[in-house]
Amino acid sequence: MKQSLILVGTQWGDEGKGKIVDFYSKKFEAVCRFQGGHNAGHTIYKEDEKFVLHLIPSGIFYDHVSCFIGQGVILSIESLLEEIKQLEEKGIELEGKLRISRYCSLLLPLHAKIDQLREDNKNSIGTTRRGIGPAYEDKTARRSIKAFDLEDNDLLEHKLRSLVEYYNFQIQNIHDAEPFRYEDVYKELVDSYNQASKYFGDVTDTLESIYEEGGNILYEGAQGTLLDVDYGTYPYVTSSNTLATSVGIGSGFPRSIYSDVLGIAKAYTTRVGAGPFPTELFCEEGEKIAKLGHEFGATTGRPRRCGWLDLVALRYSAKLNNLTELCITKLDVLDSFEQIKVCTEYEVDNKKTSFKSRLLHKVKPVYKSFEGWNCSLEECKNYAELPDKAKEFLEFIEDFVGVKISLISNGPNREDLIHR
Ligand code: GDP
Ligand code: IMO
Ligand code: MG
Repeated sequence: MKQSLILVGTQWGDEGKGKIVDFYSKKFEAVCRFQGGHNAGHTIYKEDEKFVLHLIPSGIFYDHVSCFIGQGVILSIESLLEEIKQLEEKGIELEGKLRISRYCSLLLPLHAKIDQLREDNKNSIGTTRRGIGPAYEDKTARRSIKAFDLEDNDLLEHKLRSLVEYYNFQIQNIHDAEPFRYEDVYKELVDSYNQASKYFGDVTDTLESIYEEGGNILYEGAQGTLLDVDYGTYPYVTSSNTLATSVGIGSGFPRSIYSDVLGIAKAYTTRVGAGPFPTELFCEEGEKIAKLGHEFGATTGRPRRCGWLDLVALRYSAKLNNLTELCITKLDVLDSFEQIKVCTEYEVDNKKTSFKSRLLHKVKPVYKSFEGWNCSLEECKNYAELPDKAKEFLEFIEDFVGVKISLISNGPNREDLIHR
């Protein structure tokens, strides 16, 4: 195994990344988030207690792990403070364990407001309404407030005034809503920064030192490959690059790209928000997956759309991320299905097509069916104990995608894992 590992979602998010990062963290000195923001919702069950992390890396539960938020992350200090408070109330200490890049672009409450106003309009794409799109737009347009701008009040005032003016122009001319008051935006930002300032520092140099000393680094992806702003189902995507290859930019540590890459896939598919979803089920089977998988968004609580596992999409993700290993989660959710399907081809107008098709919203999935194993996987502790029918299902996925399945998750708890 290489010294570092990048863990990415291979579908439309919520594949169970948080649980797997938590499990792997035992073996790592550092865990680093490198893209996205508090649109992420990573669920971890620790001794039956449920935690949902949005910005803080899922390695935080181990004393020996240092956690990092790289500059590719869009940072809401407000959300960060709320998360820190919730963790501290449950006895998880963060001081000395969490370091955030002072070069992060900040997500302000005004970004969330703009996201919500846009989503309330006709062209909604079903965002998390957290302000992720507007905050990444500002970064690319070179008008972001960076965390380090708070170190120089004159510079901050100058940049923040322009930003507030920019959004007030939109608010008044496009949305017909109440303008933002500069003084309120300034005060809220400075107050929250002052509470969080001890967490900011240089992430790149620290990652480099850990690496030089032989430490292992785990990079925690958020969202999923099919939500990548360039390679996902555009425009129904998030606003960051979610692929493993974005780790070098997002962490600022160039050697992060020389890592193994573990892709996480559910044994079926889910999606929150709008956009094409070739294997989506609109029948009882879909409802059964949603019910047994408790498929509700960890960030927004919205019901997740559900469907069969899409191997065309999974093979696309495997290639784009150069996956070295695959982890299949939520296999237990399929325990009581008589028949389990996987999509092996797309057709449109009787012609085969690929995931990159412009007509993805129209494709007809071609399925291969497997007999279900019809028993509980709860007690299975190793691969040999899995029913043959479950092994047949897993080995078909592995052969089709061309990536070894090294880990299988058969329940939400930390110990519900089968190594292979
Ligand atoms: P993430 O965003 O990729 O970290 O995933 P989420 O936390 O948003 O959603 C995954 C959900 O599935 C959470 O509620 C987890 O507790 C749950 N989960 C993860 N792995 C398993 C599994 O193997 N079986 C079952 N039944 N639930 C799981
Ligand atoms: P984790 O890390 C699932 C989806 C939203 C919407 C689209 C754009 O928990 O897997 P955004 O707020 O990012 O502008 O919304 O992306 N989305 C997610 N779906 N899991 C996530 O994160 C998501 N983060 C964003 O539902 O369709
Ligand atoms: Mg999630």
